[in-house]
Amino acid sequence: AEVVIVPTAADAGALVADEIAALIARRPDAVLGLATGSTPEPVYAALRSRLSGVDVSQVRGFALDEYVGIDPQHPESYRTVITRQVVEPLGLDPARIQTPNGALETIEHAGEDYERAIAAAGGIDLQILGIGTSGHIGFNEPGSSFASRTRVKTLIQQTRQDNARFFDSVDDVPMHCITQGLGTILDARHLFLLAFGAGKAHAIAGAVEGPVTSSLPGSAIQLHEHVTVVVDEEAASELT
Ligand code: F6R
Repeated sequence: AEVVIVPTAADAGALVADEIAALIARRPDAVLGLATGSTPEPVYAALRSRLSGVDVSQVRGFALDEYVGIDPQHPESYRTVITRQVVEPLGLDPARIQTPNGALETIEHAGEDYERAIAAAGGIDLQILGIGTSGHIGFNEPGSSFASRTRVKTLIQQTRQDNARFFDSVDDVPMHCITQGLGTILDARHLFLLAFGAGKAHAIAGAVEGPVTSSLPGSAIQLHEHVTVVVDEEAASELT
């Protein structure tokens, strides 16, 4: 992977936003892979200026993951987060931006449906990724198969604690999610893995330099030929 160390998260956001804007200029119907959580926020913020005046009506997008059983209208469902942080501020067509369907009634085929939708769009051109303190990408927790496709997973307690800040309490964080698999993520044409802060240093070192192992799912990026890792000094601090 190419590793770029930047002074601040805002610099990382600018760098990735420039890449996305260039991609959309080349290919107005680009397919973006969208992460949620705190890490991609500077990317989405920087995209506002870069896409103002650009025709984004054909841009398509697929979120990495969604909580299972959450009300889609809940302020922290990833559908709502993507609408609030990406679709509305950037003026994208909501019909072209999809999130895995976490509704219980249809959960049995939701993974397959999502895979089919990604394939029908021609695959993901540029995938934005954060990384969990457990080393997860998407919500592929340790032990996830490198061949996995979109499916339901159980969130580990560490991840529920990490995400408790978005809810009233850790008990309100859903137990299950539906996430693109590691195999799904590896099919994207260009991966951007971002991380900021010392809390991510261990996961970044494992993902970039550690053994390729399902114990640290982010290490799957070493199997991909086009990966750009964008980190601040703190997140880079355990790289050799
Ligand atoms: C979010 C996702 C997760 C997060 C990771 C880091 O869609 O799939 O892998 O990227 O948990 O979360 P933050 O960025 O909040 O530290």
